[in-house]
Amino acid sequence: MSASLLSLFLTRARPSLERKVISYTRAFSFSPGDAGQKAEELAQQQQQQCMSHTDQPSLSTVAAHAGVTTTTRYTNQALAPPIELATTYTRPAQGTYEPSHAVYSRMDNPTRRLLEQTVWQLETNTTSTIICNSDNSTTCMTYAFASGMMAASSIVLAHQLPLTVILPLDLYHGVSTVMVDVFQEKWGVKVRRVDLTDPKLLQQELLQLTQEQHDIDTTHNILIWIETPSNPSCHVMDIPAICQIVQKVRKQQQQQTNITTVVDSTLAPPVIQQPLLLCQNGNNHHHPDNAGIDLVMHSATKYMAGHSDATVGIVTASPFTQQGRMLGPKLQQTQIAVGGVASPMDSWLTLRGLRTLHVRVQRQSQTAMTLATRLQELKQQQQQQQQDKNSIMIIQKVHYPGLISHPQHAVAKRQMKQQQYGGVLSVEFASPHLAMAFAGALNIMYRATSLGGTETLVEERRSIEPPGRQTSPPGLVRISVGLEAETDLLRDVERALDIAKQVCHENCDS
Ligand SMILES: Cc1ncc(COP(=O)(O)O)c(C=O)c1O
Repeated sequence: MSASLLSLFLTRARPSLERKVISYTRAFSFSPGDAGQKAEELAQQQQQQCMSHTDQPSLSTVAAHAGVTTTTRYTNQALAPPIELATTYTRPAQGTYEPSHAVYSRMDNPTRRLLEQTVWQLETNTTSTIICNSDNSTTCMTYAFASGMMAASSIVLAHQLPLTVILPLDLYHGVSTVMVDVFQEKWGVKVRRVDLTDPKLLQQELLQLTQEQHDIDTTHNILIWIETPSNPSCHVMDIPAICQIVQKVRKQQQQQTNITTVVDSTLAPPVIQQPLLLCQNGNNHHHPDNAGIDLVMHSATKYMAGHSDATVGIVTASPFTQQGRMLGPKLQQTQIAVGGVASPMDSWLTLRGLRTLHVRVQRQSQTAMTLATRLQELKQQQQQQQQDKNSIMIIQKVHYPGLISHPQHAVAKRQMKQQQYGGVLSVEFASPHLAMAFAGALNIMYRATSLGGTETLVEERRSIEPPGRQTSPPGLVRISVGLEAETDLLRDVERALDIAKQVCHENCDS
């Protein structure tokens, strides 16, 4: 439209526009501000009266608002939670406390409680803020600890002896170290290793254990430790299949054996895996016999906090299983009595991290899939070129649950959400020399332990595991994918592979 035509249009249109605006404002007997206030009141009435399941905010919304739990909006509401550093609180003159009143920060800290409530919502899908607001600590069975290892240890401490812990073949080495070196050697807990990627082997083990206990009067406790995907070899364990087996054994054994199932879901935060909800059918959540995982734990140091700057562990007891409901209060007792609590600062940093958990994990999963696919292609190219005398085999295996070639890909596809398989993959090199040369040649990825941050980290795992407790094969490099541009990471990997090949071709015995 030319400038003259436009001015003609505006001159003609203005009188009718003005008439409309005038009649619009005349129709109301209150101010626009009054309208806003009335609308807010109406919306809140509706929310409180009929919060149906479909009206509840989705998990990404809950996470994006982490730490702000009030059910009503009010003016001047802080949209970032406070970091409450006080260790102690004044008491009323008559010496009693309201149940919701903080007493001492080891027992209860408002910032830690906000973190626990948010994770509770994410793990159990109770996204309505009405279910888990500031004074219902009894219905929120999530507990934040000073580290993932403190969370793992507290799970053991919440059990009674005699106790047998069943560990998978591949898991975070720190967990197997504490189970064996501390709980087995000093406290009389028995530790068994079973390949939990094959549920039938677990069934055999449970039958054997329960038969051994048959003649003994005392109740025997068994803790099945599932870590899926596992760190560092990315094994995937079939959570619903394990739940079914446990339920069968529980029914056969009646009172003699107490079985707890726990999933260390550190590599798959609630955005992509919710172990407590995997074995539930329909709305039958509160049936006492319901099969399901009893506890889910995370090293929140990793994806939940997400920025390599906080050390936190977190455990949620299932409200859907009898064993979960029994263990919740015991975990709380352990948390308070032993005192390995998450600090207010670390709780706050984790809340901050949770606000972007969904977008971070989605992006990290996509980039990890691209890197794993490319590494797998390179491995196949090497195999084809092997006839050539000068070519050396660098990559032996690529482990990532998203690859169709992964032995438990179908299981991962069933139990992990939205075709996202997390940001961790691992590569088995033909020798530790090649693995170290690859790590040494990287320019963008950092060589550092840990995972789940915004920066990509690589580590030759065996070199950090304590002698005698090594779970990783020699030459395995774990890659924790960050948020860098995919193209930069691909270039970094391919260049480092070329350099590693060159260095080892000239100097190594591979
Ligand atoms: C799977 C898994 N579980 C538990 C832990 C222990 O967590 P933290 O280092 O927070 O004590 C780690 C740490 O790497 C881990 O990877």
